[in-house]
Amino acid sequence: MKYYQLTVFGDPIAHSRSPQIHSAFAQQWQASMVDPQVGIHYTRTLASRGEFPELLNAFRALGGMGANVTVPLKELAWELATTRSPQAELAGAVNTLVRTEQGWHGENTDGIGLYVDLCDLHVALKDADILLVGAGGAARGVIPALLAAEPRTLVIANRTLERAKRLADVWQSERANPRQIPVSASSFSDLAQNETPWAVIINATSSGLQGERPPLPNAILQHRPFCYDMVYGAAPTPFLQWASEQQCPIADGLGMLVGQAAESFYLWTGFRPDRATVLHDLRASIRANEKDAQ
Ligand SMILES: NC(=O)c1ccc[n+]([C@@H]2O[C@H](COP(=O)([O-])OP(=O)(O)OC[C@H]3O[C@@H](n4cnc5c(N)ncnc54)[C@H](OP(=O)(O)O)[C@@H]3O)[C@@H](O)[C@H]2O)c1
Repeated sequence: MKYYQLTVFGDPIAHSRSPQIHSAFAQQWQASMVDPQVGIHYTRTLASRGEFPELLNAFRALGGMGANVTVPLKELAWELATTRSPQAELAGAVNTLVRTEQGWHGENTDGIGLYVDLCDLHVALKDADILLVGAGGAARGVIPALLAAEPRTLVIANRTLERAKRLADVWQSERANPRQIPVSASSFSDLAQNETPWAVIINATSSGLQGERPPLPNAILQHRPFCYDMVYGAAPTPFLQWASEQQCPIADGLGMLVGQAAESFYLWTGFRPDRATVLHDLRASIRANEKDAQ
């Protein structure tokens, strides 16, 4: 039996759901084979920025075939990748590494993960006015996929306006944004005067992890946009609670997590897993854990 040695690097990492998701994918993969001769061995690796380059080399020396990379290492993984996909190149962040003869190929599957989840949720992005809240690694990672869906406009709002401006600047050139979809930056407070009829609002900040929501004006919910929070949990995040109170449809980022993992798994193995059953089981296990903790 041959085993694919896979891992997820990050700090912190103990909470990562990736081993659970990829084990479920591996079971589907094996069930699809008449005579399963391959399996996966997927671990968690705690790595600070300083330790990551050495730990990645050590993982390779032990036969590592691929890795996921999470906070705070995605930008560093971009630097360490010997080749990069066009999406990863533009995003400036890598969440998936695939072993090659020369080194590591860097991909960013967060964008496709978000995109497939929004498709599953029947959220139309084409010709939509999209508000992306946040300008960190997650926001960077999903912009290529959002623009590929051809929205009418994309506005990036962030607590630190300068960061949103720098990110919006990346998408002004024809090379990065061939359809020249308008991409601009905004502060949270300026959104109160912005009369755009938002169709989709994506919270790509980590505010939900702190039990907070970005201080966004109520006016942005006037047209009942679809509100998505990349953070997930047993209960809706404060951002989703707020949107739900204003009668907006909502979803959390668990489907994105499974979607980005499915794309990584495909890159490593060539097998496309069924996301729906894994998402269903993961949701159930998160809720059960929450109940046990109460
Ligand atoms: N579901 C998934 O598959 C998936 C995938 C990737 C990421 N995520 C989640 O997405 C979140 C962001 O990840 P990241 O990699 O972009 O993190 P990051 O690079 O650290 O960026 C954090 C972002 O959140 C903003 N922020 C933090 N606390 C805030 C608050 N209280 N109010 C308003 N804005 C706040 C920051 O604003 P400033 O620039 O002003 O500091 C920045 O824009 C994380 O919670 C991560 O778990 C989920």
